[in-house]
Amino acid sequence: KILIIDFGSQYTQLIARRVRELSVYCEIHPFNHLPAIDASVRGVILSGSPFSVRDAGAPRIDLSAIKGRLPLLGVCYGAQYLAQHFGGEVTPAPSREYGRAMLTVVEPDDRLMEGLPRTTQVWMSHGDTITRVPDGYRIVASTAEVHVAAYRIEGEPTWAIQFHPEVYHSTDGVQLLRNFVVGICSCAQSWTSESFVETTVRELREKIGDDKVVLGLSGGVDSTVAAVLLHRAIGENLHCIFVDSGLLRKNEFESVLDSYKGMGLNVKGVKAGDKFLGDLAGVTDPEAKRKIIGRDFVEVFNAEAQQLADVKWLAQGTIYPDVVESASVNGPAAKIKSHHNVGGLPEHMHLKVVEPLRLLFKDEVRRVGRSLGIGEELIGRHPFPGPGLAIRILGEITPERVEILQNVDKIYIDALREHGLYDQVWQAGVILLPVKSVGVMGDERTYESCVALRAVASTDGMTADWVHLPYEFLARVSNDIINKVRGVNRVVYDISSKPPATIEWE
Ligand code: XMP
Repeated sequence: KILIIDFGSQYTQLIARRVRELSVYCEIHPFNHLPAIDASVRGVILSGSPFSVRDAGAPRIDLSAIKGRLPLLGVCYGAQYLAQHFGGEVTPAPSREYGRAMLTVVEPDDRLMEGLPRTTQVWMSHGDTITRVPDGYRIVASTAEVHVAAYRIEGEPTWAIQFHPEVYHSTDGVQLLRNFVVGICSCAQSWTSESFVETTVRELREKIGDDKVVLGLSGGVDSTVAAVLLHRAIGENLHCIFVDSGLLRKNEFESVLDSYKGMGLNVKGVKAGDKFLGDLAGVTDPEAKRKIIGRDFVEVFNAEAQQLADVKWLAQGTIYPDVVESASVNGPAAKIKSHHNVGGLPEHMHLKVVEPLRLLFKDEVRRVGRSLGIGEELIGRHPFPGPGLAIRILGEITPERVEILQNVDKIYIDALREHGLYDQVWQAGVILLPVKSVGVMGDERTYESCVALRAVASTDGMTADWVHLPYEFLARVSNDIINKVRGVNRVVYDISSKPPATIEWE
């Protein structure tokens, strides 16, 4: 495997994804919590950082077990660190270098530069620049602004680059990373979803044995894939609980429960809509809604879990970005979304936790799901927030308003599917606004609710653009909604991107 040492750059996860895309397994570890460097580590990458190597509090590490012994690639801060701490000089650049630059390869025979054209576009993002390299460092590529854009250290398998090969704008970045991980580190390109399934199923069997496991299904991709993987490993000893909060999409509870049963999963569906809606009555504050829903989930899940005899494990669909984020250099203080994930099971149950997807990125979870034979109707689903429609009904939640939103949402989502637009959109939904406006229907004046349609393009939900849905499509959906759903007389389309807006309205 490749070890990526994280100094806190926003691009660290992207490096890991690129390496995984080459079918090479890698792990990210914060610089101050390094694992043992054993024989499984074939090479090391040092990430970028928001710090300058000249800062007093800049991250430092002991590289004695790595440098000169294993292939090493410093990226950005990593490159400056390897220059600064071994006798070179790093100074502030006259101006921050940010954006595209043309890289000229000056040593085309260098192994890191193999197969790259003589000039290629790269992405720069740094405030410092390496002005002098230590003895024995050879410059292998430069840009007009940055003389030391790439170097290697003679006599040892160490390279460093000032630019970011992991960013899409670095045209030959993937080739460069391939040269490092496959060429220089000799990693086998065998990390595929099939190999992951095979290894994980075997490990789960060894770890869990004949114990019973309980898992909360949400209908989402992560918990579904975790369940199917566990089911393949331990069969009927996996007990799944699927809670209907009354805040799911129309008919979703029944249809998802059916597909789960169709896959052979041992699932108990629990209808708890009355409890959730009862507890939410009169509540309008978004965070208060989330807290109530989170608490209710735990209560309902616990009550069910305790009815199962001899359960030893709690399985969760945690994925790699959550793991990395909570262990990151920026510390657990770095903001993590307030998920409702089932937590806080009663102490006396003494459950051990198993998280079979904790090493995977979202797109890898999808690929693993496909190779497990899970249907596209579950794998390709848009993300849906844990608190469900509760945060899409602005203001007070009543059973009537839930029903209105479910009906509107169904018309919109069905239409997206019918028009072949569903898969082109990362996430779509409808918001029921707390405003009424005047309309006319036939000869009568109406005074009814307004709904906002939302559709965004995104890769991870962190940033998002509103999607330019065709006018004819919007016209048809608007017409259908107003004609078919009583209580709604106006439809608007949300044309805000994130940032500065967010995807949800609450
Ligand atoms: P925002 O509105 O923050 O949403 O741009 C980003 C993504 O997160 C989802 N989201 C949530 N998911 N619990 C969840 O499990 C929540 O409380 C929550 N709030 C937002 C949202 O649907 C989008 O995919």
